[in-house]
Amino acid sequence: MVECSDKLKKLPPYVFAVMKNLMKDAYSKKLDVIDLSMGNPDLPTPRHVIDRLVDTVTNHPNTHRYPQAKGMPKFRQAVCQFYKNRFDLTFDPETEALALVGSKEGVGHLAAAILDAGDIALVPGPSYPVHYNGVILAGGQVHLMPLLEENKYLPDLTKIPEDIARKAKLIYINYPNNPTAAVVEDLKFYEEVVSFAKKYDIIVASDLAYSEICFDGYRAPSFLQVPGAKDVAVEFGSFSKTYNMAGWRMGFAVGNARILGYLEKFKSYMDYGVFTALQLAGVAALTGPQDCITETCKVYQRRRDLMVDGLNKLGWKVNKPKATMYLWAPIPEKFKQMKSLEFCEFLLKETGVAVAPGNGFGENGEGYVRIALVTHDNRFHDALLRLKKLLK
Ligand SMILES: Cc1ncc(COP(=O)(O)O)c(C=O)c1O
Repeated sequence: MVECSDKLKKLPPYVFAVMKNLMKDAYSKKLDVIDLSMGNPDLPTPRHVIDRLVDTVTNHPNTHRYPQAKGMPKFRQAVCQFYKNRFDLTFDPETEALALVGSKEGVGHLAAAILDAGDIALVPGPSYPVHYNGVILAGGQVHLMPLLEENKYLPDLTKIPEDIARKAKLIYINYPNNPTAAVVEDLKFYEEVVSFAKKYDIIVASDLAYSEICFDGYRAPSFLQVPGAKDVAVEFGSFSKTYNMAGWRMGFAVGNARILGYLEKFKSYMDYGVFTALQLAGVAALTGPQDCITETCKVYQRRRDLMVDGLNKLGWKVNKPKATMYLWAPIPEKFKQMKSLEFCEFLLKETGVAVAPGNGFGENGEGYVRIALVTHDNRFHDALLRLKKLLK
């Protein structure tokens, strides 16, 4: 039988598939699993967005036809309006905005649209898996930029060898960051990236999937707020976390028209874009009342406090992040000798608490686990009680 491609063989097992398998085993043993592994929002989609979808499919059945791959004008205008309101940035909806089947799709397909076999992409390590795997599937080569705690999880661009920088075509950046939950405090790092990208002629892909999930008054900036950033960059946005619409598969990209043109061309051969009724619901999300986002952030902030304070009380030292729905936690002292996957398996078996192993986000994630804040308060209390016994 024909085997899968070498490119596919090169990919490590997908971290969430590994965790799902472990959990299947735990469920079959009747364990009460508290699943904090995947960043899968548990909060409801705003009512007015659902109503818009229902109204469209009920009363406008002509929306069943193939949509325009790049997104309908109304959707692209709504994305641009959102950027204007949120970041005071102006884009041309015709050429500088694109609808995506979830931002993951665009982030991954950008690599395929840009890279030829052997081309280099600069990828943070650890990273959201598609930043790495999209490059491999495109036939490209990854040069990892380590995200280290001592650098506040920002890559050190000066550590990238000159010959690699010269050959690189694409760089991924992602703040607020998955999995480390790190943020950029201001535009300084982004300014460095713009200069670097201009110097070496590199395309910047800024993944801003967590732009709205911020706490304690922090507001994540857009990479495109740096003067000149649009010359080299595109930015990806998502409905999944902002409006709790992960399963709806909707995202968008804005920025440099030429780069978006490559992505649009690639997409026009690969997919037909987002179902029109979903796009109209997306318009309702972007242009409707935004207090639902404030509510979502309040909930995540409360969970963050509950869990971080609780873990620290148990002696498991974890930082309080300013954004995202994740805690990036070093493996507790008592179990330091374990690899992250081994620790996750052990934790699940002993306590029923499922978290994601750090090495599932790349080798630089080894020694950490990622805890997703995606269940309700009682379950966090439960999780802490179970962890207390283990950490004693
Ligand atoms: C950094 C990052 N980018 C993109 C995505 C994917 O978002 P979407 O659901 O819009 O495809 C995620 C999802 O977890 C993510 O963590």
